[in-house]
Amino acid sequence: MRSHRQRGAIGGASALAGLLCATLLVTPASTAASATPATNSAATRAHHALPYQNPRLSTETRVADLLSRMTLAEKVGQMTQAERADVAADPGQIAELGLGSVLSGGGSTPAENTPEAWADTVDAFQEQALSTRLGIPLLYGVDSVHGHGNLNGATVFPHNIGLGATRDPKLAERIGHIAAEETRASGPQWTFAPCICVARDDRWGRTYESFGEDPKLAAKMSQMIEGFQGDGGDLDDPDRVLATAKHFAGDGFTTFGTGEGDYTIDQGITQASHAEFERLALTPYVAAIKKHDVGSVMPSFSSVDWTEDGLGNPVKMHAHQELVTGWLKQKQGFDGLVISDWRAIHQIPGTYAEQVATSVNAGVDMFMEPFSGDTVGYPQFIETLIAAVEDGAVPMARIDDAVSRILTAKFDLGLFEKPFTDRRNIDEIGSADHRRVAREAVAKSQVLLTNRRHTLPLSGHDDVYVAGSKADSIGDQAGGWTITWQGNSTHQIPGDTILDGIEAAAHGEVTHSPDASAPIPAGAHGVVVVGEHPYAEGFGDVGGPRWGYDPGEGGVLRPALTMQLSDADTAAIEKVCAAAATCTVLVVSGRPMIIPPELLSQIDALVASWLPGSEGKGVADVLFGRRPFTGKLPVTWPRSVDQEPINIGDSDYDPLFAYGHGLRTGR
Ligand code: GLC
Repeated sequence: MRSHRQRGAIGGASALAGLLCATLLVTPASTAASATPATNSAATRAHHALPYQNPRLSTETRVADLLSRMTLAEKVGQMTQAERADVAADPGQIAELGLGSVLSGGGSTPAENTPEAWADTVDAFQEQALSTRLGIPLLYGVDSVHGHGNLNGATVFPHNIGLGATRDPKLAERIGHIAAEETRASGPQWTFAPCICVARDDRWGRTYESFGEDPKLAAKMSQMIEGFQGDGGDLDDPDRVLATAKHFAGDGFTTFGTGEGDYTIDQGITQASHAEFERLALTPYVAAIKKHDVGSVMPSFSSVDWTEDGLGNPVKMHAHQELVTGWLKQKQGFDGLVISDWRAIHQIPGTYAEQVATSVNAGVDMFMEPFSGDTVGYPQFIETLIAAVEDGAVPMARIDDAVSRILTAKFDLGLFEKPFTDRRNIDEIGSADHRRVAREAVAKSQVLLTNRRHTLPLSGHDDVYVAGSKADSIGDQAGGWTITWQGNSTHQIPGDTILDGIEAAAHGEVTHSPDASAPIPAGAHGVVVVGEHPYAEGFGDVGGPRWGYDPGEGGVLRPALTMQLSDADTAAIEKVCAAAATCTVLVVSGRPMIIPPELLSQIDALVASWLPGSEGKGVADVLFGRRPFTGKLPVTWPRSVDQEPINIGDSDYDPLFAYGHGLRTGR
């Protein structure tokens, strides 16, 4: 397997000699298990030539040397990841606890959401980490899942379901590279992306994070990892980040009704045979590991229940030693790090001590335990894992394996030599060049489902009448994981709405009336943009929890999602299609939406626009023929929700539009 590992100028025997010599000179600090990382003593600073601090030695040599100097407390600290907002209250905890990593959860942004403020935040935390006895740098992770969506001003790309519609792995790689550049220039060196989940039931709120229902398509599009990480030793470049293949595995085909808590499907139970699981869930991970050498993997919240064992015995993926250690690490030879999901170990049966020991022994290496104080989190995790090792519940060999994987990532990222943010590309964030690539991706992601009377492409000279709730809402077209975790219709980010694109492309008169109450000029061509409001994870589950930002902020609590069009959008379609010269409907959504036959019969052209992100002009590019429609359905489009789950290959397969369907226009 080609590695993205750095190979030092000196390897092998000479490195070993260097290591032996240096070790004889310096004895490790107190090995007392409970010793907490001391501050960076003058003695340590004086020994700047310790083997682990020598970039001319191989990564393996440096890891072995550093590991040999670490106390148990320092090792366990490296296995611990806290959340930005929590440590921001007392950054000294990073040094006191020797934390290995901090993340920004969805929407967890510095007070001033600018690239400079992000980089300053990451660097301030880095200072803390470097002040510890051994000066091990900090890893900072963030969900750059469609570009660095948390950062205001970043280029926001189509979510993965739209990229799946492009069938263009090279484009996915280019997008990964741009996202890496914009992420690293603002501080974080690690993205929790791409999701290589295989969405088999569109009622799942994370369908849009998937490249589609075909595991082979997900495997192909995992080439995005090359964009994030580069190839063979690029990880220490200022435009690359460590990538994460997630969520391992089977997150996309849990059984409806088994969802965790009040989710209906998210984080539920994958009921499958070993063969089905291998084909549908594990296929993309073979590509991510063998072809793209992904540096980290995140297990799924979900569980697996083998049909061969007669169901009834679901095991959480975060506790699944057979799959995490057996299949991922031993069989596939995955040598990166396994990072838990957000407090996911708390869903494992048992006491916290049992949850921690079970998950560490299953093969998880670093733990996203975001909180402190009253909520059990990173301080308790550290205490609990130290006790587990002292009690023999977790072998030191497992700790050393986990810490070696974590340190390897840090060496490969160049953090020991360049721990602070390299800001040379900071002005490229949201640049015109980056937005051009995003606009290209938007155009290629559009799927033309019907086109009666050759309605599309429109002529630039036509008058156009634009209606529908999603025509002029960049928050809606960006979707979840944008500025905030759940996203929001009201979010304003730099970019163009679909209406902006139409107004720029049309030379005729453009009328905009969201509810179609304005008169429709004679001869005008109608474009009605409908769809879903933004959501993330289980809040997007059909029949899931009600969703909404705090009503106290003037927000609204919305009803659970249904995959049905809103009454207002349906009415707008009926009004426009009854009066306009032609009638095109664009569906802005994270998944297929139900178009009843009586409505479909009124529509001339129907387009799946997915969640295009910040570059709405890409939609106008295909509407007006600047680019041809080339997109193909990455998921089956059902006639009704009752058909779910419905996937290519099903025996009684009778969808409204089949997987792979997509009409072409132009050459
Ligand atoms: C979330 C998601 C995961 C994400 C993590 C950090 O719950 O499941 O995809 O990377 O937490 O935000």
